Amino acid sequence: MGEEIIKPKRRKMKGIVLAGGTATRLFPMTATTSKQLLPVYDRQMIFYPLNTLIKAGIKNILIIVAPEHSGQFLNLLGSLLKKHGIHITFEVQSTPKGLAEALTLGENHVGDDNVALILGDNIFEDDFVKQIKDFRSGGHIFAKKVPDPERFGVVKFNKNNRAIEIVEKPKAWISDYAVTGLYLYDNDCVNIAKNIKPSERGEVEITEVNKAYLKKKSLEVTIFEGQWLDAGTPDSLLEAGLIVKEKGISKNFHPILDQAINEFNEELKILSKKKLN
Ligand code: TTP
Repeated sequence: MGEEIIKPKRRKMKGIVLAGGTATRLFPMTATTSKQLLPVYDRQMIFYPLNTLIKAGIKNILIIVAPEHSGQFLNLLGSLLKKHGIHITFEVQSTPKGLAEALTLGENHVGDDNVALILGDNIFEDDFVKQIKDFRSGGHIFAKKVPDPERFGVVKFNKNNRAIEIVEKPKAWISDYAVTGLYLYDNDCVNIAKNIKPSERGEVEITEVNKAYLKKKSLEVTIFEGQWLDAGTPDSLLEAGLIVKEKGISKNFHPILDQAINEFNEELKILSKKKLN
């Protein structure tokens, strides 16, 4: 009798969008609404990271929100994609304890699967569909050359372009490559995140998750050239809108998401007309 070959279980990819936080750099706009609901050119900021996940075929997406804005997110996204087979759920983060908390708050959502975690204020020109669909195990992050690496988690490479070190906001220069806000992890990330102690600034840092995968030699880093917009300050929010328009990023959304946004906008128009009459 031939030996039975047991194939490793092919895990699904779940999505998480981090849309909590305090957005202090965008005060006073964010005194009345969430940063991720502010417009970037012709649509709310959160649609851009959602589009990245949806384009890659992810159908189960958890959105982490701050308590004071949960109702607004529910109004916009609660049933927007249901009839299109995309399941959106919400988890309230009581205080912004750091990016890695998304993985522990999202433990039930992740279940036995892998996860694509994306920051709610990050906009990518590239779609990374291939990397997300091909992902099987370990960690996979995306790095971009920036003029101000000291503001980010930074990754240093050796001669063969292999990542050898990751430092959060390095005080002394180590590299020009910032770790951007899209992270692909296998199921181990939940346990890794559970064991992270808060940093000096009191946050559970996503850099610690990346360092854990680097230590296990299972972290892949893709360097990319396309636009990466982090719409967290008045200037970068304005610049993001201009670049989205110039590059046609919002015109290139996944058709399902585009259709759902248009339907929602039409419904709003009909409702407001009824109110006026
Ligand atoms: P940041 O831009 O680092 O933080 P922030 O949005 O609170 O803004 P500021 O620094 O101006 O006060 O956060 C990056 C993204 O992650 C953003 O979409 C908010 C989100 N986030 C959470 O959802 N929970 C958190 O605990 C943190 C720190 C951020």
